[in-house]
Amino acid sequence: MHKVSPLQRMLVVLVVISLGFFVFGCMLMLQNPKDTEGAYAFVIGISQANQREPWRLVLSRELQIEAAKHEELKLIFTDAADDIEKQKADIKRLLAYDVDLLIVSPCNAVALTQTVRDAYRKVPVIVLDRVVDGYDYSLFIGPENHSIGKQAAKAVLTLAGNEPAKVLELSASSSSLVSQDRHAGFIEAMSVASNVTLMSAPVEDGTRDSAEDLLKEMGDSLADVDIIFAHTDYLALGASKAVAALGLDHIKIVSIDGFQIPDGGLELLDRGVIEATITCPTGGKEAIQYALDILHERRGVPKQVILRNYTVTRENLYQYKGLLARTPSESEKTIRVGHAQIADEGGWRSANKESIAQAAKDFGIELESIDASSLPEQIEVVRSFIERAFDVIVLSPIVESGWEGVLEECKKAGIPVFLSDRKVMVSDENLYYSFIGGDFTEEGRRAMRWVVSAIQPTLKPVRILEIQGTAGASPTKERRQGFLEVLSLMKSYDVVASAYGDYNFDGGFSAIKRYAESHPRWDIDVIYCHNDDMALGAVKALKELGIKPGVDVLIVSIDGISSALKALRKGELNCVVECSPLLGPQLMKAIHDYMSGKDLPRRIITDEIVFTSDTQEQYFRGRHY
Ligand code: AHR
Repeated sequence: MHKVSPLQRMLVVLVVISLGFFVFGCMLMLQNPKDTEGAYAFVIGISQANQREPWRLVLSRELQIEAAKHEELKLIFTDAADDIEKQKADIKRLLAYDVDLLIVSPCNAVALTQTVRDAYRKVPVIVLDRVVDGYDYSLFIGPENHSIGKQAAKAVLTLAGNEPAKVLELSASSSSLVSQDRHAGFIEAMSVASNVTLMSAPVEDGTRDSAEDLLKEMGDSLADVDIIFAHTDYLALGASKAVAALGLDHIKIVSIDGFQIPDGGLELLDRGVIEATITCPTGGKEAIQYALDILHERRGVPKQVILRNYTVTRENLYQYKGLLARTPSESEKTIRVGHAQIADEGGWRSANKESIAQAAKDFGIELESIDASSLPEQIEVVRSFIERAFDVIVLSPIVESGWEGVLEECKKAGIPVFLSDRKVMVSDENLYYSFIGGDFTEEGRRAMRWVVSAIQPTLKPVRILEIQGTAGASPTKERRQGFLEVLSLMKSYDVVASAYGDYNFDGGFSAIKRYAESHPRWDIDVIYCHNDDMALGAVKALKELGIKPGVDVLIVSIDGISSALKALRKGELNCVVECSPLLGPQLMKAIHDYMSGKDLPRRIITDEIVFTSDTQEQYFRGRHY
């Protein structure tokens, strides 16, 4: 019989022990909190502001319904009961529970900014409804309350007609940003009407009963009120009860939210309690869909999704209900898209065209893109797309004004218009369907924030030379606004000269040459360029003048094209604020979804970063332009 040596005995023991550990390890793995709940791959923590308001109850329900479609998801809710300190603690608790992603609907967005910023360092964070300050989150999904206020004003003015009318605005808590934005939009749009007198009354707790009590207290002083604009459907319900009790049946009511729930706006319309409601969707469904994109690290997740608001009246109630009931279905025929594009300016524009052309191919969409280098030319391009009955028109407007007429023609022809990268200025925002692009104002803010971090005034103020893009273009206006907004908060930073460079290399080059001609002794500390192509033109001009770009004068620009990032690494540029041209996938997905009957957000804002000499290597890798 073979004698087992002490060494062999020890080896067997070792194998048995390590096998034991392995099995135990797996069991541990299996015992991870996430799996104590069965096969959930992802746990999403949801920090709700309260579970009291009907709007929030609808939000929670929509989150649950959408998540239930995905077995891999587990939701954990917390309720802050409108207490900011409790909400901060809730978020910390959810993080301690090791959630994979956070969805936060703030009770006070400004006060929650730091907590969200800290959480974002640990897990992806989706902010719903009320945006926190800055951009330290993965994605914001929410309504635009200012334009909701404007839409409500339009509904009120339709009811008032040309008759003299007295309007009572019933707002929720006066300290909430939502109320303030809705009020601001309402007042702005009402200012055009001289036949209307306004009065307002806040219902601080925002409840139906308090609204009823308040109006009952106002009693006879309501007798000459013609229309009530209530900031929510539940305030409207309270108001309607008081109005009925006071026998003031002549009073008409307009409100906001428009849910298909008991006592919701759609039911109040049906019952003739209100005349109109402006929808304010919760974004719950979108939050879960984007959460899955983030958790599966899918590309193209935007930074902001601004939801669409409809004005629902008794006349279009059933049409709207039809829209809600619609189930998306693949469009049978090939979608034909006409893109009114801007003629070549430089690296950004060609990358933008490539991204859109490639995405059209990927989505099997037939795309015809026509360049133009002036407004009249672009209008003719759009008209030609109408004549040839394209399914969808994409517009990259070279300038933002002058579009009312031809967009009206698109509307009449029943052809939806998607804005790509640049905006139009129109009195009726429904003249276009959706906007997909960057936040130009924030790009301008980022550029000036970098200037403040890079150079401090000495005895003399910091002298800045600005090279703007095309006059009248939305990026030009907004990049200037954002830059000056931050500059106005600082002392001793002056934009001493500003020139237009038309977003191209030569424009940047000649702007510098012209300045140097009138200022033989160079006296500029910082050059702020609205795009990289102009900045690279400026670099060439400076070199010819014997001025070291990035050293003798600092240069900050916007876009992030590869030639600019090369110049940044050479130290010829000092900061490049990204404006992503890769809009193709989101644009074509939006068009595809629209044609399959999906209701889309109003605006989709792309996610962008800032490049400086400290930016880590990984951010330069894998860039496609
Ligand atoms: O509209 C976006 C701007 O247009 C880009 O920043 C610029 O490079 C392009 O000309």
